[in-house]
Amino acid sequence: MNAALVTAWGAAPHYTVVPAPTARDGEVLVDVLAVGLHPRTRSGAAGAHYTSTGRLPLIPGVDGVGRRPDGRLVYFAADDDVDGTMADRAAIDPRRAIELPEGVDVARIAAAMNPAMSSWVALRARVRFEAGKRVLVLGATGNAGSMAVQIAKLLGAGTVVAAGRDRARLNAITGADARVPLTDDAEATASALSAMAADVDIVLDYLWGVPTQRAIVALLTARSDRSRPLDWVQIGSVAGPTLELPSAALRSANLRLLGSGQGAVSPRGYLAELPALVERIDAGEVSVSPRAAALADVERVWGEPEVPGERIVLTP
Ligand SMILES: NC(=O)c1ccc[n+]([C@@H]2O[C@H](COP(=O)([O-])OP(=O)(O)OC[C@H]3O[C@@H](n4cnc5c(N)ncnc54)[C@H](OP(=O)(O)O)[C@@H]3O)[C@@H](O)[C@H]2O)c1
Repeated sequence: MNAALVTAWGAAPHYTVVPAPTARDGEVLVDVLAVGLHPRTRSGAAGAHYTSTGRLPLIPGVDGVGRRPDGRLVYFAADDDVDGTMADRAAIDPRRAIELPEGVDVARIAAAMNPAMSSWVALRARVRFEAGKRVLVLGATGNAGSMAVQIAKLLGAGTVVAAGRDRARLNAITGADARVPLTDDAEATASALSAMAADVDIVLDYLWGVPTQRAIVALLTARSDRSRPLDWVQIGSVAGPTLELPSAALRSANLRLLGSGQGAVSPRGYLAELPALVERIDAGEVSVSPRAAALADVERVWGEPEVPGERIVLTP
């Protein structure tokens, strides 16, 4: 079969012929219809994701939409393995797949599920989220962050504050009640965050690194009631893998740091949440802009600069 194949860490995959996969115990072979090129896919192909196995060559791709031999259409997530989803066929574990309604837009599903589930699962499975809660999305200008703003609203958030560094993208986000530009001016950013988001209940954090370090201090300092819980959910780390956290932050306020991702939530936990999310995406309640490309062009599109707001979707 044809597949994308990564043969060196960090290099773009080549489109080539590889042996077709065989289904192991309990697995089924699906014809792959659409695969999103997510940041998670890139970090896996660079050997830099926390689930990386360290084995090469590998077929990249963490999820996709496919057709089972019995004709059923499914969204599926790959195992943390060397055989990903950017191929004509993939062997899938049915326990990591959900059936999709016929007629669903497969490119939209392939583009949206990975970024959208980051906030959907965080709010539904990691924190006690009730209608009316106030949410800050830190790093709201990417695919996952802008969907997080919409999803927090869909799930009943009272107020959603969007914070991000790209002004144009920030202004274009649908559903935000307030917007905070994150700039290199640490003082101005801290005071804008304090003014708009001091009393939020939940932070969905796609940034980490220095911007998060500054934001934690800014928010905790400005809270009107420091004993009121603040659930800070670590989801992405586009601004840096680590930060320095003053110990006082955890004593002087009711800051509860936790993460949401593979591991923090079990495959079963993810799966339970996905059908309801598919309905919302299919109903057009989450904005998504898939950019279609042929799998045969994977090497070229892999190296192209990302277009903000778009998600490349490869079709075998
Ligand atoms: N844990 C989970 O369940 C889960 C699921 C999906 C995604 N994620 C993670 O979430 C993150 C975002 O994913 P995505 O799909 O939204 O990626 P994306 O569409 O590529 O968006 C990333 C955004 O981050 C912004 N950015 C980069 N560096 C920044 C910085 N220093 N300060 C502020 N903004 C910065 C970029 O905006 P500008 O360059 O335009 O400013 C870009 O729009 C990734 O780390 C991904 O791995 C986690």
